Amino acid sequence: MNKNVIQQDYNVTVHDRRVQNNHNSLLIWFTGLSGSGKSTLANQLEVHLHKENLKTYVLDGDNIRRGLNTDLDFTPEGRKENLRRIAETAKLFIDAGVVTLAAFISPLEKDRNKIKEIVGKDNFIEVYVEASVSACEERDVKGLYQKARNGEIKNFTGISAPYEAPTNPDVLVNSEKESIAECIQIIMDKIKTKLQLP
Ligand code: PPS
Repeated sequence: MNKNVIQQDYNVTVHDRRVQNNHNSLLIWFTGLSGSGKSTLANQLEVHLHKENLKTYVLDGDNIRRGLNTDLDFTPEGRKENLRRIAETAKLFIDAGVVTLAAFISPLEKDRNKIKEIVGKDNFIEVYVEASVSACEERDVKGLYQKARNGEIKNFTGISAPYEAPTNPDVLVNSEKESIAECIQIIMDKIKTKLQLP
């Protein structure tokens, strides 16, 4: 970082925004294989929170990679930079007082730890959306697993690139065993107190 670039303070603080919104801001980070249900759950949870009048926003892998991160690939370096930029973006959203829901494969533990470090551990909830490779491959909603098996997609998570399951996630939901409504309830139970102002 350039030593001549100096952090500037704002007059309206995150505390002011949280008080005005009447809820805390937070990053709810969904990690899991492609097709595990991350985006579905993030979007459903947002509907739920939005109806409760909370300020919310969803950051989603496919969409961010079509815009902000269009220059990045799926190599370990590409994913690391993808997730670093998203973490910095989420940090701004948290500062803006928004409950931010992020759905990214984020396959490596060290990259997920970095996200937590960037946004601050008190602002971060990790939700592991568990589903086996075979279940995700059977769903193959976007036809990507088939392309990965054919060798049309390189570095595909779960097939030709690793996924390190979180060993101690804040929330664990299993989209093979639990319904969407059940998963949302499990997540809500965990975040309810975190969303309340101290
Ligand atoms: S990462 O690993 O966190 O940087 O990935 P992410 O930004 O979440 O992007 C995942 C979506 O990109 C599509 N896609 C791939 N996924 C995994 N591996 C490879 N090689 C790949 N190529 C394209 C895929 O649609 C992912 O979306 P989801 O919602 O996870 O299915």
